[in-house]
Amino acid sequence: MDAAEKIAVLDFGGQYTQLIARRIRELSVYSEIVPCTQPLESVLAAGYKGIVLSGGPSSVYEQDAPLPAKALLESGIPMLGICYGMQAMGYLLGGDVVPSDRREYGAAEVELQGTSRLFDGVRPERDGRLRVWMSHGDSVLRPPPGFTALGTTPNCPVAAMADERRRLYAVQFHPEVHHTPQGKRILENFVGACGISRTWSMPSFIEDTVDAIRARVGGARVLCALSGGVDSAVVAVLAHRAIGDQLTCMFVDNGLLRKGEVESVVHTFRDAFKMKLVHVDAADRFLKALSGVTDPELKRKRIGAEFIAVFEDEARKLGAMPWLAQGTLYPDVIESVSFKGPSATIKTHHNVGGLPSRMDFKLLEPLRELFKDEVRKVGELMGLPPEIVWRQPFPGPGLAIRVLGEVTADRLALLRDADIVVQEEIRAAGLERDLWQAFAVLLPVRTVGVMGDFRTYAEVIALRAVTSQDAMTADWARLPYDLLAKISNRIINEVKGINRVVYDISSKPPSTIEWE
Ligand code: XMP
Repeated sequence: MDAAEKIAVLDFGGQYTQLIARRIRELSVYSEIVPCTQPLESVLAAGYKGIVLSGGPSSVYEQDAPLPAKALLESGIPMLGICYGMQAMGYLLGGDVVPSDRREYGAAEVELQGTSRLFDGVRPERDGRLRVWMSHGDSVLRPPPGFTALGTTPNCPVAAMADERRRLYAVQFHPEVHHTPQGKRILENFVGACGISRTWSMPSFIEDTVDAIRARVGGARVLCALSGGVDSAVVAVLAHRAIGDQLTCMFVDNGLLRKGEVESVVHTFRDAFKMKLVHVDAADRFLKALSGVTDPELKRKRIGAEFIAVFEDEARKLGAMPWLAQGTLYPDVIESVSFKGPSATIKTHHNVGGLPSRMDFKLLEPLRELFKDEVRKVGELMGLPPEIVWRQPFPGPGLAIRVLGEVTADRLALLRDADIVVQEEIRAAGLERDLWQAFAVLLPVRTVGVMGDFRTYAEVIALRAVTSQDAMTADWARLPYDLLAKISNRIINEVKGINRVVYDISSKPPSTIEWE
């Protein structure tokens, strides 16, 4: 994104770095994360209208503590230091920063003092105190020359400070988290102090991106691999709007998708959007590759290798395709540039479906700057149906890792029939968007049951429903008993071959989301 009107979040490894960038974008200002190790010249050359110094796990007194260049603080660019960012600012500009007696973590109340543009319109909640969220060890004891203190807490002598003339601001607490109820206003005030125009929006993103794709690609042909998920779907509609029939989408049906998904993809892209869509029915090839395999890692390997083989076979048939459009998102990009610390530990999961590097495509990655919720917004604006826009994450190896033990056509069919009940009931209960994932798993055991006058010896379905922010940790969802009862009754009554349903009440860690 080359727009001049943008704010950088200089990342010192804080756990909320991404959140700060998102909050600023929610104010219609484009914001991007820059590692604190980025050379000063390139930060200055980027022309940021404002810079946020993020939190981070370090202490300014540590050897090798990551500090911004003093010249950056003196560059005249408006700046907001948050938590560690405030300590770094205080330390470098000649204030006193001290280790606190106690680490302060959690809710705190700031007693406001003085006046500053940063707190314009911010009203103390009670007794002149502002509710905020703290998480720090060190704190600023005395602000640097030119700054005034704006508030204090019992554990933190200077909870906020500002040098209005230089437009340097700092808060010890976290305005970006919901637990600081008036944090949005504080960020808004900072954005105002930067004198930036608030014009970043998804419609403008769509317009700019479509133009940019057209300009980059010219008259060349572009291939886009659709997975059924929201990211590749949004890439496809953006590219299609830009270059129409120069785009060919390829959808490899590996036979491991959920019920109705293949039809939904084909219908949406071929019938509704009128795209050139190559639908490759490769279910038999994948089943053959999985025959006799029970080990989950081997399943993954076989599926990955088969995907590449199918893709190469089919791409060859299409003739010269210099460009490949991919759904890389901003968190994947940040991951490769992020400074060490919690924000760097977000990993992409054992990805399957990677394409062979020897195919030598030029990459088109129009979503590189977007967070997932922004991608969904673009999808909605471009008219993708809700079942694609709001699709929950789905593993690359698909149902193969939810059929425990050997994957056969029959067992896949059984799991699909059970899983659609879960999908329908979760949707009907209005919980689809609150849950990270909800799905059925087919276990590799049989148990005894009784139906009518007969004993049965049939299969077991495990239900998995979790809440999560990023899949790194997850908790089992407290689904209402009545909903669990309904799902269980429907599966046992409607899916022949299942006589028992169990609910997984394990959190991650130590368990994982998928059973495999
Ligand atoms: P686990 O089971 O490790 O899963 O807690 C975390 C998240 O990753 C998804 N997942 C995968 N995604 N390829 C993917 O693209 C895979 O092989 C894979 N395995 C798990 C899983 O659905 C969950 O959202």
